[in-house]
Amino acid sequence: MEVEMTGNCRELLNMYVGSGKDSCGWKDCKKFPTVLRLCMVVLIGAISIYMFMTGLDQRKLSFKYVHHIIHQQDWKLSCTGNVSSVNFVQLYPHPLTYDREECMCTPVHGFVILSMQRSGSGWFETLLNNHPNISSHGEIFNVKPRHQNLTTITETLDAIYNLDWYSSASKNECTSAVGFKWMLNQGAMEYNREVAAYFERKGVSVILLLRRNLLKRIISILANAYDSVAKPLNGTHKSHVHSHDEAKKLAEYKPIINITHLPENFQRVQEITNDAHHFFNSTHLFVVYYEDLVTNSHSLEEVQMFLGVEPRKLESLQVKIHTKPLSQQIQNWDEVLVRLKGTKFESFLHEDHQTPVQ
Ligand SMILES: *[C@@H]1O[C@H](CO)[C@@H](O)[C@H](O)[C@H]1NC(C)=O
Ligand SMILES: *[C@@H]1O[C@H](CO)[C@@H](O)[C@H](O)[C@H]1NC(C)=O
Ligand SMILES: *[C@@H]1O[C@H](CO)[C@@H](O)[C@H](O)[C@H]1NC(C)=O
Ligand SMILES: *[C@@H]1O[C@H](CO)[C@@H](O)[C@H](O)[C@H]1NC(C)=O
Ligand SMILES: *[C@@H]1O[C@H](CO)[C@@H](O)[C@H](O)[C@H]1NC(C)=O
Ligand SMILES: *[C@@H]1O[C@H](CO)[C@@H](O)[C@H](O)[C@H]1NC(C)=O
Repeated sequence: MEVEMTGNCRELLNMYVGSGKDSCGWKDCKKFPTVLRLCMVVLIGAISIYMFMTGLDQRKLSFKYVHHIIHQQDWKLSCTGNVSSVNFVQLYPHPLTYDREECMCTPVHGFVILSMQRSGSGWFETLLNNHPNISSHGEIFNVKPRHQNLTTITETLDAIYNLDWYSSASKNECTSAVGFKWMLNQGAMEYNREVAAYFERKGVSVILLLRRNLLKRIISILANAYDSVAKPLNGTHKSHVHSHDEAKKLAEYKPIINITHLPENFQRVQEITNDAHHFFNSTHLFVVYYEDLVTNSHSLEEVQMFLGVEPRKLESLQVKIHTKPLSQQIQNWDEVLVRLKGTKFESFLHEDHQTPVQ
């Protein structure tokens, strides 16, 4: 630690005083305690300026956190050759479990995909992971103990954004965007205030992935629930499939939709997504609709630009399950038709409606 500090001290001095490389070597510093003191003054000054700029309340800082900031700061300072004009926070993680080696100066953009079940987030994530510089770790909080309380949530988030999280999506140490998908009902809404504050403090960007056609979403939910019980594919439950045969098999099931509270159900879902938009509006936010990702490849390009990675053509092996006209996907179609006619959800009945969620 001490040697490391001194190394950075030397760099700091070079930067602030503009002295040449060998005017304050490690040995020289040892010989001239005055210079060492100056190093400390400069270092402390730099940290104070940083804390002042980021508005951190010093009284709340634990030792661990201060330590972390010093580390982050060291890294940033030694990587300043790479300052680029981006509109998001660039992290310089210092993983506890391995060394980023030649990529320690590759900045990392932290992100999160906030979504609801059956909104295409699984497919979206496989697309993102098809990019060589993006690691999206999946539905990490589907394990209850991880979103038990704020402590476990924060620990999990820290591990992810410090590049200490492992999953099949982990790329090499050169990852330049790291994130995961988080369903709104897995603690993200419950702790929205603290989570949004964490995202702002850390500089995590939010992709809010929504689905416009909530009727199709219900079909997907019911079909998935049926599949988890009936398991028509060789007795295994598949949320997502990779072949047209499997998709066809799963699409054979036509659910009956309970129309009693259907409009209220849609209303509720829209309220939740509006709340989510509102709660996380103060973060660096991008709202994307599943429908747009499906129909418009430019939409995926925008997402990549938002993440600050070089846009490419991204592919997923997943196959869409429900491709038939809506009227053939629901057993009690006529009932549903009558129930939604004249309501503000009527547009869901039309296959390719483009009206945004109110
Ligand atoms: C700048 O970043 C690139 C990767 O994005 C890295 O290879 C290079 O070493 C960095 N340069 C400096 C001076 O930090
Ligand atoms: C993206 O990943 C590739 C392959 O690992 C690597 O060669 C390249 O330097 C990375 N680009 C950035 C900007 O990190
Ligand atoms: C949070 O949950 C974890 C895991 O269940 C538990 O060990 C810990 O004591 C809890 N912390 C608080 C502050 O409730
Ligand atoms: C189901 O079993 C058949 C025959 O054993 C096999 O060809 C097929 O790949 C299996 N499908 C799945 C989804 O495991
Ligand atoms: C539909 O839902 C209502 C209330 O949730 C329930 O009372 C009713 O039995 C359900 N109808 C069917 C056919 O399941
Ligand atoms: C989010 O913020 C923008 C600009 O500040 C505002 O126009 C918009 O209404 C806000 N949206 C929500 C859902 O709060």
